[in-house]
Amino acid sequence: MNAESEKRKVVLTCAQPTGRLHLGNYLGAVKNWVEMADKHECYFGVVDMHAITIPYVPAELRKNVYDCVAQYMACGLDPDKCNLFLQSSIIGHAELAWILGCACPIGQLERMTQYKDKAAKHKDALNSGLLYYPVLMAADILIYNADIVPVGEDQKQHIELTRDLAQKFNSRYSETFVLPEPYIPKSGARIMSLQSPDSKMSKSDPNKNGTLYITDEPDVLRKKIMSAVTDSGGEVRYDETSKKGISNLMNIMSALSGKPLQAIEDEFAGKGYGDFKRAVADTAVEALAPVREKYIEISSDKRLLEEALKRGGQAAQKRAFKTMSKVRRKVGFMDFD
Ligand code: TYM
Repeated sequence: MNAESEKRKVVLTCAQPTGRLHLGNYLGAVKNWVEMADKHECYFGVVDMHAITIPYVPAELRKNVYDCVAQYMACGLDPDKCNLFLQSSIIGHAELAWILGCACPIGQLERMTQYKDKAAKHKDALNSGLLYYPVLMAADILIYNADIVPVGEDQKQHIELTRDLAQKFNSRYSETFVLPEPYIPKSGARIMSLQSPDSKMSKSDPNKNGTLYITDEPDVLRKKIMSAVTDSGGEVRYDETSKKGISNLMNIMSALSGKPLQAIEDEFAGKGYGDFKRAVADTAVEALAPVREKYIEISSDKRLLEEALKRGGQAAQKRAFKTMSKVRRKVGFMDFD
């Protein structure tokens, strides 16, 4: 590493509080955040304003916010090393989204893959917030002037839009925003459903056996992995086209254990799917046991979770105010005191 890349950067990323975190959220996102918190100035948000773009129950949203923070901390995010914050409690995200939206062509939002997917799923409850979602996400990132945004592959298009909006703002009003770089991990960036490896692992998968939750009990993890869909043929070999199920399990094993895919192929040469699945299950159970234990220990301690959000929120607000005071002045808004 050269001196430049070792410099402390500003890292920002977020997840929606829509229930339990699954293995995709963990491997594509939170696991890497923990590593970054040791080296950089980090802001990790729970984005409750994004969560109201689809039908929801307010009391459940509140419960999910606590749950999300408890899971972040159980995964190893230490509030002494990073700033955990709740999006709706920080002044500025919505205002910046409005300003950025005024420079964002509607067609660009209508072309977003995630919007098209969600719009198809929520045809009866399609609201403008869902269309505007990526602009709010751009504001989440730009308000902290983040250098790096660690995300799973599904968020890549949203980061591209963010860069585009930042560039537009900078060229119209003068240099203001850093153009953020996505950080997408080499393994774990796209974990697929265990039951339909054509679609990504997701909280909204109707087949509950397709999704591994990080707080699932060991027996449940084992059962889901042993019943994962595999492919005809009995060879443990990485091939995303003709062996989607096995390749997904190999990705999971590789991301959890750090073993390269080739080493996994070598280890299971001549062995069957049964042996391989048992080994994947052992790896998952071993990696997630401490997360589950910690989650059980802290999830009902509301004071601890609120303290973490309050402390991180103060640092986040300070940085957000700094950006917003520049932005407001540049776009021609006035302050009278
Ligand atoms: P969300 O809440 O859907 O997911 C949180 C993180 O988990 C990653 N992820 C996955 N990674 C690998 N395989 C999967 N199957 C998988 N499913 C989810 C996501 O890429 C994400 O990194 N729009 C965002 C939340 C957001 C945000 C932001 C992120 C709002 N503002 C600003 C970064 C920066 C979302 O819905 O993530």
